[in-house]
Amino acid sequence: MRFGHFDDARREYVITTPRTPLPWINYLGSEDFFSLVSNTGGGYSFYRDARLRRLTRYRYNNSPLDMDGHRIYINDGGTIWNPGWQPAKTELDSYTCRHGLGYTILQGEKNGIAAAQELFVPRGDACEIDRLTLENKTAAPRTLDVFSYVEFCLWDAMDDSSNFQRNFSTGEVEVVESAIYHKTEYRERRDHYAVFWANAPVTSFDTSRDAFCGVYGGPAAPEAVKAGHCSNSIAHGWAPVGAHHFHLTLAPGEKKSIIFGLGYIENPVGEKFSAPGIINKARAEAMMARYATDAQVDAARRALADYWQELLSGWQLTSGEEKLDRMVSLWNQYQCMVTFNMSRSASYYESGTGRGMGFRDSCQDLLGFVHMIPSRARERILDIAATQFADGSSYHQYQPLTKKGNSDVGSGFNDDPLWLIACTAAYLRETGDWSILDEPVAFDNDVTRAQPLMEHLRRSFRNTHTHLGPLGLPLIGRADWNDCLNLNCFSSEPGESFQTTGPSEGPVAESVFIAGMFVKYGREYAELCDHLHLTEEAASARTAIDAVEQATLTAGWDGAWFRRAYDAFGAPVGSRECDEGQIFIEPQGMCVMAGIGRETGQAEAALKSVEERLDTPYGVVLLQPAYTTYRLNLGEISSYPPGYKENAGIFCHNNPWISCAEAVLGHGDRAFAVYKKTCPAYLEEISEIHRTEPYVYSQMVAGRDAPTFGAKNSWLTGTAAWTFVNISQYILGIQPTLDGLRVDPCIPHTLASYAVTRRYRGAVYHIRVENPHAVQKGVQSVTVNGAPIAGTLLPLAKAGENVEVVVTMG
Ligand code: BGC
Ligand code: NOJ
Repeated sequence: MRFGHFDDARREYVITTPRTPLPWINYLGSEDFFSLVSNTGGGYSFYRDARLRRLTRYRYNNSPLDMDGHRIYINDGGTIWNPGWQPAKTELDSYTCRHGLGYTILQGEKNGIAAAQELFVPRGDACEIDRLTLENKTAAPRTLDVFSYVEFCLWDAMDDSSNFQRNFSTGEVEVVESAIYHKTEYRERRDHYAVFWANAPVTSFDTSRDAFCGVYGGPAAPEAVKAGHCSNSIAHGWAPVGAHHFHLTLAPGEKKSIIFGLGYIENPVGEKFSAPGIINKARAEAMMARYATDAQVDAARRALADYWQELLSGWQLTSGEEKLDRMVSLWNQYQCMVTFNMSRSASYYESGTGRGMGFRDSCQDLLGFVHMIPSRARERILDIAATQFADGSSYHQYQPLTKKGNSDVGSGFNDDPLWLIACTAAYLRETGDWSILDEPVAFDNDVTRAQPLMEHLRRSFRNTHTHLGPLGLPLIGRADWNDCLNLNCFSSEPGESFQTTGPSEGPVAESVFIAGMFVKYGREYAELCDHLHLTEEAASARTAIDAVEQATLTAGWDGAWFRRAYDAFGAPVGSRECDEGQIFIEPQGMCVMAGIGRETGQAEAALKSVEERLDTPYGVVLLQPAYTTYRLNLGEISSYPPGYKENAGIFCHNNPWISCAEAVLGHGDRAFAVYKKTCPAYLEEISEIHRTEPYVYSQMVAGRDAPTFGAKNSWLTGTAAWTFVNISQYILGIQPTLDGLRVDPCIPHTLASYAVTRRYRGAVYHIRVENPHAVQKGVQSVTVNGAPIAGTLLPLAKAGENVEVVVTMG
């Protein structure tokens, strides 16, 4: 069952009922100011950091769900409704929600009044614009009371939701005409405030939640909305809110718009006040003047559309397979932008207070984003590298606002350093910008210890190489990619962190997955050394890699698949010797992607085992058999009930690894079959079971051991980046290399042809792939601008050039 449809021409997903199985959201903003908005107008806003600079409140885990948001109420002669249905939940005569590229439009109609709420964050400005357009579709004049409503967060979202003894006394606002200023803590150390404005004179306003909602009222039926007017309340402490009220009349057929804005303003410390206790509003006034008219808002919308048009034009696919085209050309790349911006911090499943930016997460997100805006990728790589310690290990997370590592989690996740090599190498393949390796970068944010980025990569490589265990495989530390496989943790107290309990330096527990990474990314590192003429370093790196590869093929091999790990007692994990957890997905994907066992047949065998033991119609589960009891020696993985999350759920992030691995072995049919299983557009028809948005990937889908089905944790997942890498590079075969673009597809034999437009190092390649013999792999000939070339590596074109490429498979 569907709850809407794709509108490919407008690049939107159109939701046609507010009763989606879960809130289906969109992200507004792409640089500093961000808003989450659901299909019923729920959500919240923040500036840069969802924890430290939260503008509006959001209550997770509430019942009913999704009550806080960007609200508009209409009181039409006692009938109270919202254009997005929530929170009043009055039945609407018609409803649609259009989630588009950086904007959302909620359209509701009731008793002949149509209301459209258009939300977006303009390019280059720290605000959200909400334009409300009302239309009287009847033959009689209509008088309405229209209200806006947001509830302010007192900036630090953690503190805001816990430190009530202080916070109930600190809230402060100022009101000037239609502008409501939220200035809590501005009197002391903050240099920023929020402004919630409207472009027309208000009839009344409120800034106290008690006054607007009523102490025992709530957003579903605020007292002020019921009464038809606000009480011009000024909040002192308690809960500051912003609400505008307009009493207006619409003539028959008349349309009227009101533009609302929610802005974030920062003032230099010396310019904070215009008079004692009065905030300096000059920057806010300038911001309001930029969006005072419909023409200005239209222009800002156009600028946003142009921005996305330009971004997406760098990678476009026409294959005749509608679902594939829309995922590759649009939604997958859009999600990559969102994961690049958010890492795992703020979604409807990540509260924005728990994690900042993940080291490994952000590195992997870059793999799917780097082609879009390489300059931002460059900046991000340098930020991430600056949180590395001098020994090559790294903080596992950092806060985007301060760019400093989070010491509560610390370091010791032994896969982290290698992901830095992965994303830097991807950046170099995309851009050829070797200067990045010379950039001085701090260690642990200490600039006095800055070293060139290349030295950071060297230490990443060495950190793994010098932390091998008894079998010659890398030590796992607190965890590798699988945060829940905690082999050195031994936590028995409820509430203890699985990851940080126990020593990270476990001298025995080893990871076959990190071994696969070391071979794959170690080789990429050695290639960088080759390029820099560091011949001896490249050779010694390769010697170290070969040894780990051998250890993987022997100690890491279980007979028909790669083992997962060795625990702190040296016992295998992911082996037929185990009673549960006999086979895991991660090492099969990563080791085969690294090419391990390709010549010996072990790679083929491993993928066969995956198909036999882990495959389901909706994706490949993480492990089998699921753990049915908690295991002290394995940690969090066994804390989940069977079939959920890392305990045998379909963890979407590593499904593309299997698809990539199949492509490495030339199995195009199987690679694409695996791709389709988790691809949201292909699951649209079962939205009532899948439950999360059909336009983006979710972190996990309950596995076959789970009693209840469905996906969870949509949007912020490494699945977005890895799927884009998989489909664009491994399957469709458009591969950036250090020396230029290579085309080497591995496709389903049924795909007869496709065309890709790919911007690369400033030139635009128009690539047509023909598959006349219905093969899965193999290139017979390539022509560039009509002339044949030898091999599959396209000659580098000059920036600005258009290149016509025809690739014939066979
Ligand atoms: C989740 C993991 C996540 C980790 C982060 C765990 O509870 O299952 O998916 O990576 O928390 O700390
Ligand atoms: C989600 C985390 O963000 C990611 O870092 C981790 O690799 C996976 N969960 C698997 O545990």
